[in-house]
Amino acid sequence: MREGQALASIADLQRQAEAAIAAAHDLAELERLRVEWLGKKGRISQLLRQTGSLPPELRPAFGQRANAAREAVEAALARRRQALAAQEEARRLEAERIDVTLPGRPVWRGRRHPLRRVEMEIIEIFRGLGFTVAEGPEVERDYYNFEALNIPPDHPARDMHDTFYLAGDILLRTHTSPVQVRYMEAKAPRLPVRIIAPGRVYRRDDDATHSPMFHQVEGLLVDRGIGFAHLKGTLAEFARRMFGPDTRYRFRPSYFPFTEPSAEMDVSCPLCGGRGCRTCGGTGWIEILGSGLVHPAVLRAGGYDPEQVSGFAFGMGVERIAMIKYDIDDLRLFFQNDLRFLAQFR
Ligand code: FA5
Ligand code: MG
Repeated sequence: MREGQALASIADLQRQAEAAIAAAHDLAELERLRVEWLGKKGRISQLLRQTGSLPPELRPAFGQRANAAREAVEAALARRRQALAAQEEARRLEAERIDVTLPGRPVWRGRRHPLRRVEMEIIEIFRGLGFTVAEGPEVERDYYNFEALNIPPDHPARDMHDTFYLAGDILLRTHTSPVQVRYMEAKAPRLPVRIIAPGRVYRRDDDATHSPMFHQVEGLLVDRGIGFAHLKGTLAEFARRMFGPDTRYRFRPSYFPFTEPSAEMDVSCPLCGGRGCRTCGGTGWIEILGSGLVHPAVLRAGGYDPEQVSGFAFGMGVERIAMIKYDIDDLRLFFQNDLRFLAQFR
């Protein structure tokens, strides 16, 4: 009778344990149940320990039954652990689900800066006219920036350029004209010289049409018998190819120490159609370049004999040309890196 009761209470405990395990919500709760039932002081473990205090004839059956209960509870824990792990995995997969049918995010592609594009267009036009590209340093010596260009120290023309001096006779070039002399020095006495020289230049200037750093493209052609007609013809062809056949342009007499005679070329203002506005200063025209026939002193500095050869030169502002081409009223927009502005140039 006592044996029957003892065995029944084991079966009862086992059922309680199995029910609690089956109802466990998560792995943490399951671990608590394992300790409660099978831990050192667990309820099933205590049963097993009681075996020794039973009358000898009851011990085998009781011990076996208690062991069976422990195994059953262990098995129930294992089953529930597996089920909960599977549930958690399923929840995670659901949460991390990827909709492969969503359209991809577009990759933002960079594109060339409008100034660089215009510079490349200028280069292509002159390449088509037989010019090759030359380059010179942005950190320049006073000699190449001024003296070799017929601008001696104390010459008033130095005031035309508000120069950034670095140290001694080292400065940031104020124009691309020093490349004229550097190139001639390397090439003389061979003919013809037919180059353009694009690059950055620096001046202490800052307003809607002047920037402290801007870009120029220099041009230089030296050969026998070169005159003003060659200069005009070349630049008129450039304006036609750059701005279209209907563009109006004009040459105004001007002064540069390194050319004689000198002229500036204006293009009709695209913003006001020539009526006059803020961008063109009310004149209807925008100056795009300075030019002229190369001064004999400059040819000599480059190693050529002005009795034998002559040439023309020009220097154009890339920003000005970009403003005209794209109807832009403030040159500072080029340097603000605002994508709303830059993304318009495809
Ligand atoms: C010169 O720089 C001469 N070296 C050009 C030259 C070359 C004349 C060869 C004769 C022979 P000027 O300072 O005018 O000239 O500048 C040339 C062009 O650069 C101007 O027509 C204008 O388009 C542009 N420019 C001048 N200053 C600025 C500025 N601060 N910001 C933007 N563009 C400028
Ligand atoms: Mg000028």
